Formats: sequence, C-alpha cells, structure tokens
Amino acid sequence: VLNMKAFVAGGSGYGGGELLRLLAGHPRVDEIASSSRTYEGKRISAVHPNLSGIVESEFKAHDPSHADADIVFLALPHGQSMEYAPQILECGMKVIDFSADYRMGDARLYGKHYGKHKNPELLEDAVYGLPELFRDDIRKSRLIANPGCYATAALLALKPLSSISKSLDFNHVIVDAKSGTSGAGAKPSQFLHHSEVFDNIRTYKETGHRHEPEIDHILDCFIKDASVSFTPTLMPVVRGIICNCHIFGDTDIETLRAAYSNDYRKEPFIRVVDAACTKNVLYSNYCDIQPAYDAGKGRAVIVSAIDNLVKGAAGQAMQNMNLLMGYPEDEGLKTPPYHP
Ligand SMILES: NC(=O)c1ccc[n+]([C@@H]2O[C@H](COP(=O)([O-])OP(=O)(O)OC[C@H]3O[C@@H](n4cnc5c(N)ncnc54)[C@H](OP(=O)(O)O)[C@@H]3O)[C@@H](O)[C@H]2O)c1
Repeated sequence: VLNMKAFVAGGSGYGGGELLRLLAGHPRVDEIASSSRTYEGKRISAVHPNLSGIVESEFKAHDPSHADADIVFLALPHGQSMEYAPQILECGMKVIDFSADYRMGDARLYGKHYGKHKNPELLEDAVYGLPELFRDDIRKSRLIANPGCYATAALLALKPLSSISKSLDFNHVIVDAKSGTSGAGAKPSQFLHHSEVFDNIRTYKETGHRHEPEIDHILDCFIKDASVSFTPTLMPVVRGIICNCHIFGDTDIETLRAAYSNDYRKEPFIRVVDAACTKNVLYSNYCDIQPAYDAGKGRAVIVSAIDNLVKGAAGQAMQNMNLLMGYPEDEGLKTPPYHP
C-alpha cells in the first residue's frame, strides 16, 4: 500500500491543528500541507507550538482546490466547505469535511438549520463518516461528512439499541450532553472568555441545537422515526464530551449490555465500560460507553464519553482517511488515553 499526501484547509483552527498533530504521527503520511487565511506564509508551528520541530512548513494561501494531495481535509466553518469541495473533487482528490455542509443528505433539512446549500447535488455522494455505522460505504466514497462532536457521542451511544428498539420508547429520547470549550473552536468570544467559563457550568441552546436534527437524521437509518431531544452544557474544561442518554422502556441490564457487546465487540475504538468519564478517553480516539438501567422506573441511561477534538473531529477524520486509503483502520491512532 502506497504512502500519501494530506492537505488541511483551516489548519490554524483547533480541529485542523489537532489533525496536523495526528497526521504528523501517521506512518504512511509523507507530506502534510495546510492553509490559513490569517496566517498565510507563517510557520505552522508558530500557531501550534506543540508541533515545533515536528511540522516545520508554512501555511499556504487559502485555496484547497490547488492542493497537491490524495486527501483534502476541510477543517472550516459550515458554509465554507461547500465553496471548495466541488473543485477539489473535480481535481480527483478525496474530501473529508469537518463541517455540517454534507452531513444531512437532504438540502431542505440543511436549509432549515444552516442556510441555502450551494451544491445540493453532492449531498447524495456524501457518506456520513461514522465508521462504526457506515464503514463499508466510507471505503467506497470520495466525499466524507465527518460527524459533529456531540452527534458522534450520542449516535454511538444510541445505535446499538436498534436491536431492542421495540421495547423502548424512541419517540422521547433525552440526550443531556456536556462539553469542554475547545468544541467551540479557536475564535475568542465573550461566551468563551476565561472569566465567564472558569468556575462556571452553563447550559446553552436548551432547545434547537443544530446537532439535534443531525442525530435524528442519522438515527432514522436504524430506528425509524426516532426523536431525540438534545441539550448541551458548557463545562470549565478544555476537552471532552459526556452524553447521558435517557430512554424509557421495558428491558434489563443484561439485555442492554448484550446489545452493546454484540454491536461493538470488534470495534477498535469503542469500549463498553463500567464507568464512562472524559478523563479516560482524552487525547485518544476512544469512545467509552456505559449502559445502566433503573428497573423501578423503567429508565435506561447510556453514558458515552469522547475527546471532542479526537473521536469527535480529527481522530475520526483520520480513521476515515485510513478507510479511504485502504490502510489499517487504527493506523496512527493507537496511542492509549492518559492517566491520571
Ligand atoms: N472543535 C471541535 O471540537 C469540532 C468537533 C467536530 C467538528 N467541528 C467542526 O470543524 C470545523 C472547524 O472547527 P474548529 O473548532 O476547528 O474551528 P476554528 O478553531 O474556528 O477553526 C476554523 C478555521 O477555519 C478558518 N476559517 C474561518 N472562517 C473562514 C472562512 N470564512 N473562510 C475560510 N476559512 C475560514 C480559520 O482559519 P484562518 O482564519 O486562519 O483562515 C479557522 O482557523 C467546524 O465546521 C466545526 O463545526 C469542530
């Protein structure tokens, strides 16, 4: 299997920067280039000092369609990726998009939550890049819509329940999620100012967060008409997402555990654990999942934990890259999580 060249558009951001770190440790990536509007001509390691002595090239001008690469990663805000994806694909390169632009296979749904889509004809080509759910389609694709960070944690927690969905109430699923501040990207704002975030826990977008329709849309492939109500909370930590998924119904803990171990037995990055928490997955591509059941109230609680920048963004993108290139799926992603 040949080695490859990678190009990261938006490499000055948190998602792009994390991807540059991971690509630098990938044994089959020979060349890494990246673009930035703000830092064009400046050294990548000036923006990401963790990469000093490791990635020594400079940011290029911002036009990823001029890239010379096998895969172009678009680590850009939504609305921007669709400006570049068509030309990159026309040049014969594959695209892994971090934004929401190709996640919903439906231009109307995209329009309702994000705005008018500029190339809706590409939505049919795009594959939702959650390898545990769509591995075979990803391998054959040229345009991967890398999932949202909250959506990754929620979908990995909920999908195995499709095998027992008849005994559960999937019309009223509650997903109560918490995230660190890096989930909002590198751009400073008052909301993300240290003085506002530190020593504080704040729920936001109590209703109507954009990951809610994304979760519903993808879950519908496995559980017809499932309806998820999603609320996020910002935590005074840098990385990590924890999702508590509440589903009412008649089951038992053994059945729940069997559903997860059956679905995820062979998955390299999913661990079914007794106590999921962010610390046990930070800086890694793992998703830890903990099923629990209250027989008295008939409530299942599925807890899932990921690092938003790794399994929730750059790690998952590299897992998708491995599938597209025919490399072992865990290549470059085997580093165990840290402790303490
Ligand atoms: N952070 C996460 O945990 C996470 C997880 C999953 C998915 N995502 C998605 O990944 C994408 C990137 O997120 P991020 O957190 O890395 O954001 P970020 O830190 O703000 O980085 C985005 C980068 O895109 C570039 N950019 C911004 N506006 C642009 C524009 N109008 N045209 C071209 N380039 C522009 C900026 O670089 P220059 O100004 O230097 O050009 C910026 O560094 C988003 O779509 C986000 O929703 C993020």
